[in-house]
Amino acid sequence: MSWKRKHILGLEEMTADEIYTILEKSKIYLDQIERKETGSNSEELKGYNAVNLFFEHSTRTRMSFELAQKRLGMEVLNFHAVTSSVSKGETFIDTIETVSAMDLDVMVIRHVKPGTPELATKHTTASVINGGDGSREHPTQALLDLMTMWLKGKDFAGLKVAIVGDILHSRVARSEIFGLEKLGAEVILVGPPPLIPGDLSRKGIEISHDIDEVLDYVDVLYLLRIQRERMAEVFIPDEEEYFRTYGLDRKRLDKTKDSCLVMHPGPVNRGVEIAVDIVNDKKSVILEQVRNGVAVRMALLSLLLKG
Ligand code: NCD
Repeated sequence: MSWKRKHILGLEEMTADEIYTILEKSKIYLDQIERKETGSNSEELKGYNAVNLFFEHSTRTRMSFELAQKRLGMEVLNFHAVTSSVSKGETFIDTIETVSAMDLDVMVIRHVKPGTPELATKHTTASVINGGDGSREHPTQALLDLMTMWLKGKDFAGLKVAIVGDILHSRVARSEIFGLEKLGAEVILVGPPPLIPGDLSRKGIEISHDIDEVLDYVDVLYLLRIQRERMAEVFIPDEEEYFRTYGLDRKRLDKTKDSCLVMHPGPVNRGVEIAVDIVNDKKSVILEQVRNGVAVRMALLSLLLKG
């Protein structure tokens, strides 16, 4: 298919064809990375400029975008809200217009407020990529997750994926659900009732409050962190209790299929959603997700800027 989209704001608006186009292109970059040939790409987006605007903390997403941009030969600027004029009272729109006046081609934006990347598109001629907006969407994370499942030979039609944990506050969960459903997978949301949003249960997505009942059924266990920083009130009694009722320990892992993948977007809270010794278990693909993320972001940059 020929690529038309200028911005990556979320998976809700994306088609299955677009997702497969991204996965296929990402695979080409991943193969190059694995053959240590990314140096040969360094001219591909030479002359293009990117800015990574992070109004919220990040390790993986920011570094992965920067590496992807550099591997394609782009000039890269990094913006951190805490050390910028935001701390002097500059508004989001003024920041976007200021940065845009410097003639940039791509802006990656992470912000605590849902909808800010979309708002930015109205104030810049650059392509905007959503690096996570509040609890709304985190499309590049979901795309790298889909790529990880796909590379592990998973067929999305009928694939059973349990997303476990703090779904209410998770932008990753929302993008994951949109993407998986578009590709024909079956999603089951697992978590304590206060952490499952009502709008998702109304949409007819399967819900369970008992992780033990899904263990031998699913092909992917996707674990989420409890996002205390987004909670204005107490949603779970304490972390030990959460680990006992929903945490993935050895006993639970042994009940899953041999082919079951354990996934997590990071950062991991060991001993809360996952036992310390399972993070690096053979069923865990957590670091492969990170690795695939660079290739996915290279693919997106190339598609947005060159079609
Ligand atoms: C996630 C995020 O920031 O939304 N992390 C990530 O980008 N890989 C998930 C989280 O913070 O728990």
